[in-house]
Amino acid sequence: MSFKVNDNVTWVGKVDWELRKFHGEELSTHKGSTYNSYLVRGKEKTALIDTVWRPFAEEFVSNLKKEIDLNEIDYIVANHAEIDHSGSLPDLLREIPNTPVFCSKAGIKSLSGHYHQDWNFQPVKTGDKLDLGGKELVFIEAKMLHWPDSMFCYLTEDNLLFPNDAFGQHYASEHMFNDLVDQDELYREAIKYYANILTPFSSMVTAKIKEVVGLELPVDMICPSHGVIWRSDPLQIVNKYMEWADNYQENQVTLIYDTMWEGTRRAAEAVAAGIKEANDAITIKLYNAGRTDTNDIITEIFKSKGIVVGSPTINKGVLHSIAALMEMAKGLNFKQKKASAFGCYGWSGESAKLVSEMLDQAGFELINKDGLKMLWNPDEEAIAAAKAYGREIGSALS
Ligand code: FEO
Repeated sequence: MSFKVNDNVTWVGKVDWELRKFHGEELSTHKGSTYNSYLVRGKEKTALIDTVWRPFAEEFVSNLKKEIDLNEIDYIVANHAEIDHSGSLPDLLREIPNTPVFCSKAGIKSLSGHYHQDWNFQPVKTGDKLDLGGKELVFIEAKMLHWPDSMFCYLTEDNLLFPNDAFGQHYASEHMFNDLVDQDELYREAIKYYANILTPFSSMVTAKIKEVVGLELPVDMICPSHGVIWRSDPLQIVNKYMEWADNYQENQVTLIYDTMWEGTRRAAEAVAAGIKEANDAITIKLYNAGRTDTNDIITEIFKSKGIVVGSPTINKGVLHSIAALMEMAKGLNFKQKKASAFGCYGWSGESAKLVSEMLDQAGFELINKDGLKMLWNPDEEAIAAAKAYGREIGSALS
């Protein structure tokens, strides 16, 4: 499959309908993904922007040969060294070994670290230009969006921005343009992508968008490296990123728990009922972390102004689904979100305190620093206490 993005740019990537996990097993991709590679033809020179993930390298090179004689590719641009975009470079450069590879300085380190090849690297920095004849590719470094080497490039005359991972979605589609796909699906994947990948870099997202907007470049399309191309009102996703990067929250509280014998589940439901009594306007969502996709929960945390996390005590600790979730949340460095902990126990009873400490270390503002401990399976009195705890949380989130 290939298709024309416009008269001068052809998409030569790969739609990966099967992908269900990304970054090893770390990130769920329920809707698959795409690895977008673009062939850009000027009047005199032709450039290839990025390649596709390593398992598809042979297919990629074979398809590319149907599109162009590889010897007519004058330049390769590696906007980002991560394997999903650079993984076909070894196969491609085996065929056209001296082709210059334009990337950031950090890109040379990353690409060399991955592939250990003596390629013809050409380091570029913000403002450097590559003349294709009648149009230029202008480079814009985008350090830590989301790797040190990440880079955007912009095609003059055609007014296309190639921002690599930024503005992407893990979303396989035959349509490949934002106006042709289901908008709910598109935005569900776009916000999940932001929440799980870009949250820690939000201050840099804001600064980079302001920098690029300040260049006053006309943008007809935004061509990311995953998912669909934004051609209809392309700045809509830029505006969304500005919202998401600004400590985004909706009027939502998310209760996340795991449970062994239903005690902590019953407590969660009682806490939720208490929140509703005190704050009827807030959206309340409950997830059993042991039974729910972790990245989907992370997306719900991203959308929340507060979270309530519960685990029973086991072996003086917490259930591993909660520990894993808290580790992921700590790395994502959420800001301006409130939180509280709870949990049942039979004898030693450390879990509520431990979850409170995890929430604190992950940067959440504790509503109640001790959390709620409940002995054995909660009786009526304990359920009433959980409701009261919920009311305290509901009021704090008003
Ligand atoms: Fe899509 Fe950072 O790789």
